[in-house]
Amino acid sequence: MVAGGRRVLSGVVASSAAAQAVFGGVVPEVAAREHVATVLPAVRRALAAAGIRPRDLAAVAVTRGPGLLGALLVGVTAAKALGLAWGLPVIGVHHLEAHLYANALAGPIRFPALALIVSGGHTSLLWWEDHSRLTVIGETRDDAAGEAFDKGARALGLPYPGGPAVEALAATVPSTPFHLPVARLEGGGYDFSFSGLKTAVAELAAREPGARAAVARALEEAVVAALVRTTARALEAYPAAALYVAGGVAANRRLRGELEALCHARGVVLGLPPPALCTDNAAMVAAAGYYRFRRGEFLGRWESAETPWPLPAAGS
Ligand code: KG4
Ligand code: ZN
Repeated sequence: MVAGGRRVLSGVVASSAAAQAVFGGVVPEVAAREHVATVLPAVRRALAAAGIRPRDLAAVAVTRGPGLLGALLVGVTAAKALGLAWGLPVIGVHHLEAHLYANALAGPIRFPALALIVSGGHTSLLWWEDHSRLTVIGETRDDAAGEAFDKGARALGLPYPGGPAVEALAATVPSTPFHLPVARLEGGGYDFSFSGLKTAVAELAAREPGARAAVARALEEAVVAALVRTTARALEAYPAAALYVAGGVAANRRLRGELEALCHARGVVLGLPPPALCTDNAAMVAAAGYYRFRRGEFLGRWESAETPWPLPAAGS
């Protein structure tokens, strides 16, 4: 529950990570079933924790897409049902937009801004001119940054989600003798590619079974270096007042430290939500919903989940 797009009244996370860990990744059907079981109890808990009643609410915001269709349908259907029952408008939010608005919970967004979204499904650089103008300037051509962590973790025998596990293991060694390559893409754009890294980690982990921590550290350094160097190039080309970072991988301490150094050197404001707001959460969806609410953008009666849901690309 969020008031005024800014003040978090309550935040409840019903995570299916434990159910997914059994499979070492996200199984769409498992995700959808977990959503069915947890969505209404989570809403009830959020209301109770905020000490408010449905009649105090102005609108219901929900992630409309992109993502796994089964899970999205559960969320959108629940939001529409609650909207009907409570007589409230429903707002359909784009998942990447929602991640960015985790930053709005900390203070007003400074435009124009560059945004780096790094999650299990996305690695995108965006040009964010104002609340309603968000264009993609670069994205991954294959695996997402979080996927590189998740798949690398699996090669290292670590549990899902891989990012926190890799970070914790990497932190047990002061340095690593290994260097894992990340492809530099031709053409000078801002795209990313992490699929080669997955193979390189698997090979290194098999070759060096006694050096798991050093391999984890090499993986973390490689992902972070690729993200930071491309973001640095974008900061040179775009007149950004701020860089906003979001998505589960933004919880990574090495990435946070290197982005802090980068933005400090460039004199650019850095927006980095606290780790709990970097991973998927309802407050960021509500914050994004607030700005759509102010623009009167509501989900139509015949509208539902939307996936894929590409954001406009720069120059199009
Ligand atoms: O944004 P998110 O919660 O879910 C979506 O994918 O939308 O991001 C989850 C991803 C997973 O791939 C997870 O391994 C990664 O974020 N992650 C991290 C860390 N915490 C979560 N990656 C690196 N370091 C972390 N501390
Ligand atoms: Zn996410």
